[in-house]
Amino acid sequence: MPRFVVTPWEVKGKVDYEKLVKQFGTKLIDAALLKKLERYAGGLHMFLRRGIFFSHRDFDWILNMYEKGEKFYLYTGRGPSGYTHIGHLIPWIFTKHLQDVFDAELYFQMTDDEKFLFKRELSLKDATGFTYDNALDVIACGFDPRKTFIFSDVEYAKTLYRTAIQVAKHITFSTVKAVFGFTNENNIGTIFFPAIQAAPCFFPSVLKGKNIPCLIPAAIDQDPYWRPSRDVAPKLGFYKPAQLHCKFIPGLGEGGKMSASQPETCIFTTDKPEVAKRKIMNAFTGGRATIKEQREKGGNPEVCSVYQYYYFMFEEDDEKLEEIYRECKNGDRICGDCKKILAERVGRFLVDHQRKREKAKSVIQDFMLKD
Ligand code: TYM
Repeated sequence: MPRFVVTPWEVKGKVDYEKLVKQFGTKLIDAALLKKLERYAGGLHMFLRRGIFFSHRDFDWILNMYEKGEKFYLYTGRGPSGYTHIGHLIPWIFTKHLQDVFDAELYFQMTDDEKFLFKRELSLKDATGFTYDNALDVIACGFDPRKTFIFSDVEYAKTLYRTAIQVAKHITFSTVKAVFGFTNENNIGTIFFPAIQAAPCFFPSVLKGKNIPCLIPAAIDQDPYWRPSRDVAPKLGFYKPAQLHCKFIPGLGEGGKMSASQPETCIFTTDKPEVAKRKIMNAFTGGRATIKEQREKGGNPEVCSVYQYYYFMFEEDDEKLEEIYRECKNGDRICGDCKKILAERVGRFLVDHQRKREKAKSVIQDFMLKD
């Protein structure tokens, strides 16, 4: 029995990423690929230096095509079932970096249909409402309005549907059962839905009347969607979509990814700084029972959720990150202080992000695709 589970709807247990790469049939991002990317970007993004983006499919091919003068577009998305949390921002921050480096267009899918179909208690009105709320977070990441196209599945259905049914015709029920674990109890909307998430791998090529390579940055939980999409691509005359996968930023509790279903261990982008501070001050750490013991024996950053926040987002300087690690191990850093420093940084980040979210309200229509 696997000790962890990773599906688009559930991430459970301590994820063994190397095992996952084998299980999903993806490839680790290796030194040669990093070197190539470094040339384009003039340095390596923190997420690559730290192995947060760690796996891929065909990213080497995308770069080879780019070298031959064939530009790619980016595709990523969000299932709008509630407020955005900091974990969701990880792939978006990296997508923005890729947009800047490669001057790429971005198609951003809001799967309000997915969330409506998979979440029994969510109304369609609320799901489409969260599309517009979550789009503010996307825009706040700084994407170029001339090159970024956000769409709600429900509202952009006319364009999506034409490609989705082409995809759906080539995917059998037994395939989606095997890939997603669907059963006879699934409603029929969920069974069709993978064709909708596959559609943006291809419809920009349809709109432009030529084949364009597609690169999808996302956490690895979305990977099951890309397997049938890649199988279908050549049958429809398209390139197979390429992927870059990231790891999960954990919640503030003991283990497990940050998830909106556990709001006390999750920092939402809409949280007030004092709310985020309260959550951080209650976080699970790798600290000892007493300060005296901590001073003597040192803490354990490997299991500490607070350290993970510095690692993923809140300490960009590698040397300073190492210092935090060392100080913790040596017993020179006390959990209370470490949490307070993190809470201040997260608070500053939230204030800035919320200001950008407010500004986004006046430009949101420039980003939304309609048909
Ligand atoms: P959703 O809304 O579950 O997640 C949005 C994006 O955030 C990633 N993610 C995380 N990344 C790092 N740490 C975490 N703790 C964490 N939790 C979630 C997800 O992998 C995702 O990239 N079905 C999708 C929406 C979608 C999509 C796409 C996502 C449609 N097309 C193309 C990526 C690429 C969903 O419900 O994502």
